[in-house]
Amino acid sequence: MSKMEEIQKVCLNRGIIFPTAEIYSTISGFFDYGPVGTLLKRKFIDYWREFFVKSEDNILEMEGSIILPERVFEASGHLKSFVDPITQCLKCKSIQRADDLIQEKTGKFVEGKPVKELTEIINNEKIKCPRCGGPLSEVKLFNLMLKTEISPVGGQTAYLRPETAQNIFTSFQRLFRAVRSKLPFGVAQVGRSFRNEISPRHFIIRVREFNQVEIEMFYDSQKPECKKFDEIKDKKIVIFTREAQKKNLKPVKMRAEELFKKRIVPSEWLVYFMTKEFEFYKSLGIPEDCLRFREMLKEEIPHYSAGNYDLEINFEFGWKETVGNAIRTDHDLKNHMKNSGQNMTVMTDDKRKIIPWVAEPSFGIDRTIAGILLHCFVEDKKRGWNWFKFPAKITPYPVAVFPLVNKDEIPEKAREIYETLKKDFDVLYDDSGSIGRRYARADEVGTIFAVTIDYDSLDNDTCTVRHRDTTKQVRVKMKDLAPTIHKLINGEVEFEKVGNLIN
Ligand code: GAP
Repeated sequence: MSKMEEIQKVCLNRGIIFPTAEIYSTISGFFDYGPVGTLLKRKFIDYWREFFVKSEDNILEMEGSIILPERVFEASGHLKSFVDPITQCLKCKSIQRADDLIQEKTGKFVEGKPVKELTEIINNEKIKCPRCGGPLSEVKLFNLMLKTEISPVGGQTAYLRPETAQNIFTSFQRLFRAVRSKLPFGVAQVGRSFRNEISPRHFIIRVREFNQVEIEMFYDSQKPECKKFDEIKDKKIVIFTREAQKKNLKPVKMRAEELFKKRIVPSEWLVYFMTKEFEFYKSLGIPEDCLRFREMLKEEIPHYSAGNYDLEINFEFGWKETVGNAIRTDHDLKNHMKNSGQNMTVMTDDKRKIIPWVAEPSFGIDRTIAGILLHCFVEDKKRGWNWFKFPAKITPYPVAVFPLVNKDEIPEKAREIYETLKKDFDVLYDDSGSIGRRYARADEVGTIFAVTIDYDSLDNDTCTVRHRDTTKQVRVKMKDLAPTIHKLINGEVEFEKVGNLIN
């Protein structure tokens, strides 16, 4: 069993993430998040907001509708260009994504190639249906948007948005006024997106309903400076340029400033976000050597973009885009202006009428969660159970409380501590089975601090705190517990220094 399969098993058994409506075992590409998964996702979003929104003074948030009228996607170009190539088996009628199939069978990377070329490759390489071995049809393009009809009598076509970005563009003028009409400014949105993926796969990595968090950073293309660029200019990130990909070279580590000056990424704003992303993903427990930015090849670039730089995570099956960073130019605003007849221009301080440009980092939340699950999963033969080394900021339940035994006044004391800690943290209470089993259950969902109330607790108001990563234990005063855990989570103190070390 691969590590990801093992993780999927844990997710099912512990109710972390599981297929939607699985009792009917019908549609693939949809997943529900259970209690631990929901907390993990929510904390990831909070941490993301702290890192990318609250730390800035010119990024605000919005929450838009998921269903948008057809005209939005006519203007954005999704109706025409948001397509994937498909081929159908002429015998069993199953449908495959043609570029994936070709890559699987031949190792050739063919994303973005014209359908005629894909059909030729299928014929020349004699690629057959992977299900039944039957012959395959010509390759056609398939639009990935999910369509719906509005009103009881229908007639008004709408789509479930394939990206959160379009709400931001269609409401641009209102948002611009909300920031007192000053460029540059960014709008962030956390929300659901939908794509009718032809072959959902790899657990929550390619699904049909997913969560994104995007920032659209609007700026004047004649004044494209990012005022905080100096703060990050010396930081290094790993970049896999087009040239390196073509020449079969390895990705290299490069300073942010160099990346911009060499025009590898010709936008200060995008380099700024990419540099922050690199730090952010490392802080989520993903090792640096499993992260890289890949400059998309010309033929892969989405229809709206003048340059894309994907933050990729190394999964067991290979590298996978997890954040799409795009220079969207004025594509969206310009086309919405043309199609709606509404003004999308703004006046600059020096009285120029412009349509702002956009730098966009677009994060896939579910894909990020998959990366965190994979890279934080510790297969621990010594301990006898596997566990998640989630970073403190995002761990679903940072604390667990155990009464050593269920008699005398110990359960009351333990519940008292539990109720107090619950005011500040998400806390697990576990009073069943041996302490060893309870440690195992807490470790399995990444709980960092396990607090045990024992007979000494009744005498001297202290308790034992065990650390997930080292299994070391300290004896701490119960009245200090909540502030101590706060400090530990924020990395302000070392675990071994917060009380008397027991082992
Ligand atoms: N607004 C730009 C945009 O949506 P994208 O590269 O198509 O760009 C951004 O998507 C991110 O959304 C991806 O990097 C990925 O993490 C996530 N994503 C896209 N399609 C997905 C899918 N079918 N399942 C899960 N995540 C997906």
